[in-house]
Amino acid sequence: MSVGIEQLAVYVPPSVLSLDELAAARGVPPEKFREGLGVREMAIAPPCEDVVTLAASAGARALRASRVDPGDIGMLLVATETGVDHAKPVSIFVHELLGIGRQCRVYELKHACYAGTAALMSAADWVRAGGTRPRRALVIAADIARYAIGSPGEPTQGAGAVAMVIGREPWSLVLGEESGTYAGNVYDFWRPLGRREALVDGKYSVECYLEALAGAFRAYRTLERPALGTDEPLSGRLARFLYHTPFPKMAAKAHRRLLEIDWSGTTLAGDRLEEAIVASYRDAVAPGLEAVARVGNTYTASLYLCLAALLEREGPRLAGQRLGLFSYGSGCCAEFFTGLVPSGVAVQAGVAELLRERTTIDVATYERLVREGDSGGEPPPGFTGEFVFRGVRDERREYARLAPALAA
Ligand code: HMG
Repeated sequence: MSVGIEQLAVYVPPSVLSLDELAAARGVPPEKFREGLGVREMAIAPPCEDVVTLAASAGARALRASRVDPGDIGMLLVATETGVDHAKPVSIFVHELLGIGRQCRVYELKHACYAGTAALMSAADWVRAGGTRPRRALVIAADIARYAIGSPGEPTQGAGAVAMVIGREPWSLVLGEESGTYAGNVYDFWRPLGRREALVDGKYSVECYLEALAGAFRAYRTLERPALGTDEPLSGRLARFLYHTPFPKMAAKAHRRLLEIDWSGTTLAGDRLEEAIVASYRDAVAPGLEAVARVGNTYTASLYLCLAALLEREGPRLAGQRLGLFSYGSGCCAEFFTGLVPSGVAVQAGVAELLRERTTIDVATYERLVREGDSGGEPPPGFTGEFVFRGVRDERREYARLAPALAA
């Protein structure tokens, strides 16, 4: 039975900071951010947005695009590491804001940047377990990436959400049924209770990511069907590779590691290795990184932002071909899996339109917004979200849906 992503929709906040400007303000050569990390801009959430409004705005777009009645959603999963309460899940606020029915399994998932994949796989398994029953799930990955001002992680912040309708009519991506997984307890990135900004052992986190990639990819290679021939590279069967992308240079490092494993023992392992890695990255990875270079790290939504942008831009050209996807969440858990782009794919995830509509802010405004945090309030001019966080009253968070004229 085919199960997978029926529709995807993205939402990113309307304010954007140029990383050339941030580099100038921090006394860093702009090439360090542009080439060293591969980042160009980062999305900044205004005070009236938190992870609930990001998730709800993406969810509303996905439901509209798929023409699914909210009452037909039997499972709503919101994956995030930017939770707003220690007990009450982000997903139940989203459930109300989207008008989803009472007969629904609703919960929030957390495992750093891996939770979106955990949610996707849980939803796909739930749809498969339903047999011929028409089950549909809504999976939303949403996050606001925050590091301390002036820290090495600062240029790798970002914010956004990706919503995916999961069901038995996967018009956007048919999920493969096998996954290579890898897990281990490491302290590479974490956010102790009560802290807004993450703590990170930056260089170590890159090593942990690459080790987890190697583990998950090796595990997947043994599960591929039909089985790989002796010395046959898996990459020959995959048209594109999408990676969890905290910053685009990380995807370049990941692809290099993957190919070194995949090509070891083949003729490509010799003198031509370097040239072949560069060509493979250029053709099979770089075209999928444009959006993430302009939004920044969206933590658990990052892999799915890459997927949405790729399918929106190149879906029809990739029809009938398979993609390789790698998800990494610090701490850590990782998964390598594949998906088939179906014929007739037509994804309008809203990425190009949202990036076009953004308002550029300067460094002083960015620093003010960071200080204010998600304190609630009125939407700024040019706001493209559909929901706002009004603030906290009597220890309770209050949200509102905007009048249709204000919403995109
Ligand atoms: P840094 O201090 O900028 O490191 O921190 P750097 O000085 O090594 O510079 C970075 C790159 O810029 C290097 O390239 C330099 O050579 C280059 P590389 O050697 O890596 O190829 N460079 C220049 N290039 C051109 N012109 C120049 C120039 N100067 C230097 N003038 C670090 C980088 C990633 C550590 C930092 O940004 C950080 O801590 N980021 C946050 C952590 C992170 O993103 N880790 C990634 C793996 S873990 C993960 O992905 C999970 C995560 O998303 C969280 C979750 O799971 O929830 C983070």
